[in-house]
Amino acid sequence: MDEPSATGHQAGDTGDDDARASVMSVIETRGLTKRYRGGQLAVDGLDLTVPAGSVFGFLGPNGSGKTTTIRMLMGLIEPTSGTARVLGRPMPRSTRTVLPQVGALIEGPALYGFLSGRDNLLRYDAADPTADPRTRRTRVAAALDRVGLTAAAGKKARAYSLGMKQRLGLAAALLQPRRLLVLDEPTNGLDPQGMREIRSLVRELASDGTTVFLSSHLLDEIEQVCTHAAVMAQGRLVTQGAVADLAAGARGRLVVTTPDTGDAARVLKEQGVADVVITEDRVTGEPPEGELADLNSALVTAGVRVRGFGVERASLEDAFVALTGEGFDVAG
Ligand SMILES: Nc1ncnc2c1ncn2[C@@H]1O[C@H](COP(=O)(O)OP(=O)(O)O)[C@@H](O)[C@H]1O
Ligand SMILES: [Mg+2]
Repeated sequence: MDEPSATGHQAGDTGDDDARASVMSVIETRGLTKRYRGGQLAVDGLDLTVPAGSVFGFLGPNGSGKTTTIRMLMGLIEPTSGTARVLGRPMPRSTRTVLPQVGALIEGPALYGFLSGRDNLLRYDAADPTADPRTRRTRVAAALDRVGLTAAAGKKARAYSLGMKQRLGLAAALLQPRRLLVLDEPTNGLDPQGMREIRSLVRELASDGTTVFLSSHLLDEIEQVCTHAAVMAQGRLVTQGAVADLAAGARGRLVVTTPDTGDAARVLKEQGVADVVITEDRVTGEPPEGELADLNSALVTAGVRVRGFGVERASLEDAFVALTGEGFDVAG
C-alpha cells in the first residue's frame, strides 16, 4: 500500500509555518463556540489540542457537544465564534486541502442498502475527486480486508448487522492513506466483541502513525485504547491531556481487605479517612494526605488483621467525578 512520506509532509506542503504546526498538533481549537439557531449553546469556548500521533479520546456524556465539535472541525458547520485548525490549516476555510487527508466517520455511515458493501465503497471512492480510479478496486479490496469484511463484501448493505455497517463506514475512511482519522462514536451500538474489534483496528492504525481522534460516551472504552483524552461536559472542556496524567490527577480509593471490617472502618475514620464504605471483606475510603504506612500501622496496632492494603489506580471516571462532582452518564 502507498504510504505518505515518513515526515508526514504532503506534496502540497512547502514547509511553511502551517505545515510545521500540523506536525506538532493535528487539531487545535481556540475559543471554539457553537450556538445553534434555536439558542442552544452546544460548544462553549473550547481550547482543544490533539498531538500528532496520538489516539485521542473525545469524551463526554450524550449532549455534551462532541458531534457539534467534530462537525465544526470537518467544516460541515460554521462556528459561532473561535477558531479551529486541522493539520495546521484553518477550518472551514481549508476544507478542500484538509479533508482529502482526513478519514471521517460521523454519526454512523450513510450507506445505500440496495448496494453491496463493496459497491458502496466503490461508489464512495468515485465521489472523491482526489481518489485515483486506476487503483480503486485494489484500494477497496484492501480496506474491506482491513476491517474484516472480505467475506461479506458481496452482500447487500441492508443485510449487514450494525457492527458490519460501522466497519464498512470505517473501511470508507480507510480507502486512502490518511494523516488523521476522525471517528464519532465508532463503537456505538456494538456488542463487546464488535467493540474489541474496533479497538484493535484503532491500535493498528495508530501504530502506522495515523493520528486517531475518536469520540465516545464510554469512559472505560477510551481508557483501554487512547493515549490522550479530553473530557466534555455541557459544551465545556473539563480537562485534557495524557490519559495516564488525567487519571493520576485524581487519587484512587484506599482499599483495606480484612475480616475485621467494622474495626477497620472505625480506625480509618479516626485516622482522617473520609467516605468510608464497607463491602464484604473490603473497607474503602478517600486516602488522606500524608504517609499511608502510618495508616497501616494504626490498623495493625488496633488489632485489625490486614490481608491487603493499598490505593487503587484512579480511573478516568474517578477523575471525571473529582472534576465535575457528577457521575459520568454511562447509560447515555
Ligand atoms: N442541529 C441542532 N440544532 C439545535 N441544537 C442541536 C443541534 N444538534 C445538536 N444540538 C444540541 O446541542 C447539544 C450538543 O449536541 P451534540 O453535539 O450532538 O452532543 P454529543 O455528540 O456530545 O451527544 C445538545 O444539547 C443537542 O441537543
Ligand atoms: Mg454525538
